[in-house]
Amino acid sequence: MRASSAMRALVRETVLTPDDFIYPIFVVHGQGIKEEIASMPGVYHFSLDNLLAEVDQVVALGIPSIILFGVPARKDAFGSEAYADDGIVQQAIRLVKEKHPDLVVMADNCLCQFTDHGHCGVVKAGIIDNDASLELLVKTAVSQARAGADVIAPSNMMDGFTAAIRRGLDEAGLESVAILSYAVKYASAFYGPFREAAHSTPQFGDRRTYQMDPANGREALREAVSDVEEGADMIMVKPAMAYMDVIQAVKARVDVPVAAYNVSGEYAMIKAAAANGWIDERAVVLEMLTGLKRAGAEMILTYHAKDAARWLTGRD
Ligand code: PBG
Repeated sequence: MRASSAMRALVRETVLTPDDFIYPIFVVHGQGIKEEIASMPGVYHFSLDNLLAEVDQVVALGIPSIILFGVPARKDAFGSEAYADDGIVQQAIRLVKEKHPDLVVMADNCLCQFTDHGHCGVVKAGIIDNDASLELLVKTAVSQARAGADVIAPSNMMDGFTAAIRRGLDEAGLESVAILSYAVKYASAFYGPFREAAHSTPQFGDRRTYQMDPANGREALREAVSDVEEGADMIMVKPAMAYMDVIQAVKARVDVPVAAYNVSGEYAMIKAAAANGWIDERAVVLEMLTGLKRAGAEMILTYHAKDAARWLTGRD
């Protein structure tokens, strides 16, 4: 059954399409900014005046969704730019939704880019205060949803974040806004380039008191199940490549759509090897993304989305 490409197409189990992709975009304050992130070639910081040109391309390539990450001009202990009405993410959402109402716009929900200490929640006496953090994350979600986000994607890993955000959205009359929970987020070294891009490296300690231990797989199922019970509409596993067993197990366990986050360090490795001529970028990327889909990911957040969509469709 492998003898011809027609026969292989006939029996192929997994077909990757641009419909599978969510494209991450970094937005910053300022004017005329399109600045490449050193460890992520092809990925940029965009000021709002340059954002729509990028989003137009994403839409033209048939990618149905983006997720926005904000890098604010000012950081403080409580991450107040995360829930400011004129915060960078809120402004970006309004701008994008006005031009592309049908694009699914997701908002990452976390405080780490917005706090001066770089942690995902509020710090009291050197410790992350879970419940005080939830209040601010709910405020952030409501303001992102009011700006027009279709999906809130909480990545903060505080305990009970999904229930708190669902309640907050409902109380604000935002029942139709969905939650894509980063339920299964590991304390991973693969986030290095993102932290450089988002200026969100913790100023003390690390994130191991709230993100998951990479050694644990069964715990991932508890996290996924409890988040669905708390009201998550979709569940994410992050990172992707070192956790494909987890993607598969989560997919078998919960009946909501499952996403995989092909993170910054995974992207950087492929770009670096390709730049050295050590691997065939196109072939490797398509093989990897197909593998993630085969493992069970119905959606893939990936910095490769635009290139992969071009390769899959032949469009520019
Ligand atoms: C914020 C957040 C992180 C990523 C997405 N949201 C970083 C972290 O937890 O340190 C990582 C994404 C990537 O590496 O591409 N909490």
